[in-house]
Parts: sequence; C-alpha cells; structure tokens
Amino acid sequence: MAKIILTGDRPTGQLHIGHYVGSLKRRVEMQNSGEFDKIYIMIADAQALTDNADNPKKVRDNIMEVALDYLSAGIDPDKSTILIQSQIPELTELTFYYANLVTVSRLQRNPTVKSEIQMRNFEASIPVGFFTYPISQASDITAFKATTVPAGEDQEPMLEQTREIVRKFNQTYAPVLVEPEISLPDAQVCRRVPGIDGKAKMSKSLGNAIYLADPEDVVRKKVMSMYTDPNHLKVSDPGQIEGNVVFTYLDVFCKPEHFASFLPDYSNLDELKDHYRRGGLGDVKVKKFLNAVLQEELAPIRERRHQWEQRVPEVIEILRTGTEEAQKVAAATLADVKQAMKIDYFDDPTWITEQKEKYGN
Ligand code: TRP
Repeated sequence: MAKIILTGDRPTGQLHIGHYVGSLKRRVEMQNSGEFDKIYIMIADAQALTDNADNPKKVRDNIMEVALDYLSAGIDPDKSTILIQSQIPELTELTFYYANLVTVSRLQRNPTVKSEIQMRNFEASIPVGFFTYPISQASDITAFKATTVPAGEDQEPMLEQTREIVRKFNQTYAPVLVEPEISLPDAQVCRRVPGIDGKAKMSKSLGNAIYLADPEDVVRKKVMSMYTDPNHLKVSDPGQIEGNVVFTYLDVFCKPEHFASFLPDYSNLDELKDHYRRGGLGDVKVKKFLNAVLQEELAPIRERRHQWEQRVPEVIEILRTGTEEAQKVAAATLADVKQAMKIDYFDDPTWITEQKEKYGN
C-alpha cells in the first residue's frame, strides 16, 4: 500500500516553535527520508473559520504566513504538495456524507472538542460547524487516502474519530477508505512545549509564544524574560529544574555539541542541571546558552523566510498548483465514496438499465 502523509494547520496566526518541534520538523524529516509516496500539507482555513466565523480577515491574512512558515521550515514544494482546504469543495461533500455515520454524543465525548469548547467559552452556544469539525478533519485525511498524519498529541482524538468513521464507512458501504495512523515526535518533551511564561500551552492569545518568524533580537528578549524557578533568587540559591521553562526548552533543543560551541565549562545537559540544582549557577547564564542554541536552530529558517518573502508570486503559484493537484485526488476519492454509497446514478449503467426496465422502455 502506498505510504501517504496528510497533515495541516489552521491559519489563525504565524507558526511557533511548539508547532515546529511538535510536528513541522518531523514532517520535513519525513519528506526528506524519501519513504513516502505522497505528502500533502493542508492550510486548514475552512476549519479555522469554524471558530472564527466573525473574523475571516484573520484567516485570510494568515494563509501566506503559514505558507511562508512551511517553506522556511524546509517543506520543499517539489517533494510536498501544499494546498488550501476551502478551495477543494469535495472535502465539504465528503463531510456531509460522513456526518451520517457519527452521533452527536460521540462528538460531545471528543476530548479535543470538549477542551476547545471550554477554552472558547462556547458552552452555551456551540456553532454547529465547530462542533462537527472532527468530521471535516476526517474528510481531509481520508480524501487523500492518508496512511500517516504527523501531528501534535492534541490531534490524537481527531485521528481516533477518523478511524471510527473509516471503519463505519467501509463496513456500511464498501472498503474504499484507509485507516490513518498519527505520527508523534519520538521525544516526549517535544509533544507539548510550554509557553515562555510557564503556562502549559504556547499560543498567540496567551502572548507566550516564540515564532519561527521572530527576528533574532525578539527571540533573545523572549528568552531573557522566560519563566524559571521563582525561588531561585540569588545565584547561590539551589534551583529547580521541573517546571523551569528554560530547562524544558533545553531538553527540546539542546544537543551535546552545543556545549563545545557555546558553554565549554560543561560537557552535557545533565552536568548543567546538576549545577543549577546545587546552586551557584545563575539564570542569565543558562538563558544566554538557550538563546545561542535556539538562534542556531532558527537562523536557517529565518534566512529561508527572507528569501521566500522576496518570491511571493512564486509562493502563490505553489499554493495554486498544489491545491489543483490535491483537488483531483479528492475528486477521485469522492467518486469512490459515491460509488460505494450507490449514489453515482449517471455513472452507474445498472441504475440506468433498472429504471428503463422498470418502466418498460
Ligand atoms: N486540527 C488541526 C489543528 O488544529 C489542523 C488540521 C486540519 C489537520 N485538518 C487536518 C491536522 C488534517 C492533521 C490532519 O492544528
């Protein structure tokens, strides 16, 4: 069976380093591994509208931001197809048919939907489109017969719901859909990167994110303002590693060779942590080290972004041709789906013959 990747992001803001280590970096590695037959990366603008119905401008303005983030992170348009969800009507049509296979109570139990309803204060009045977006996401994934979905941990319930829809569809009609697997980062620390303020989630609305597009000095300022151990007041005080964002980020980004380059007094992260725990190691020194590590990771991304920003007409063509190519694939799946459901009347000689025979002509 062909190995096919489909994944995507809502264009509600620029992508941050949480997106990067949680999914984007892995997509690039998978892309460059040559192990996959097709890779589709979706800018999920229709999904973004399910909780931004009153703010289409925000979604529209972020299409190019997300496209630039993809390209700067290393998504190669010769190897991966970037597409815009709303421009593929077949996805909406699939959603309408899949909706018949899903119960209201099942959607209510979806943990991601549940927590997002809380986060957005939707409890009293949940938009139907928002409530049903897991079904639309199942369409995104199955339209491309994706086998693998590299995504963050928060997407696991979406994948579970998709697999249920696939099984139900294949059982009820005919085995035309493919059950996808999620692909999470190997390292646990990469699965949920906290905000620079120590809050569990990095997000635009909380103002605690480091963006891939942030200039060098902005990254440095954010690192220097990071939440550490509130009881580590003097350099000589013993410090705590747990919940200390600077160390959490070092767990994510630091490699042994960074010590030789930027902090040769220590040979690895464990030594640094031990010193911090003992006392005698100041936050500023650790933050400066983290800044050097982060800048090294982000510099090539920033550099590619500057280049792509000069080539916006080309980016628009990448999006246009990617979307056109993807639309054909989604149309082929939709045709399979309609055939399986026996609602492909004009393409079904049996249906035509039956009608003629029934009425004797
Ligand atoms: N729900 C994803 C997010 O919020 C975006 C998304 C839309 C997606 N369709 C997808 C992710 C299909 C993986 C596969 O980031």
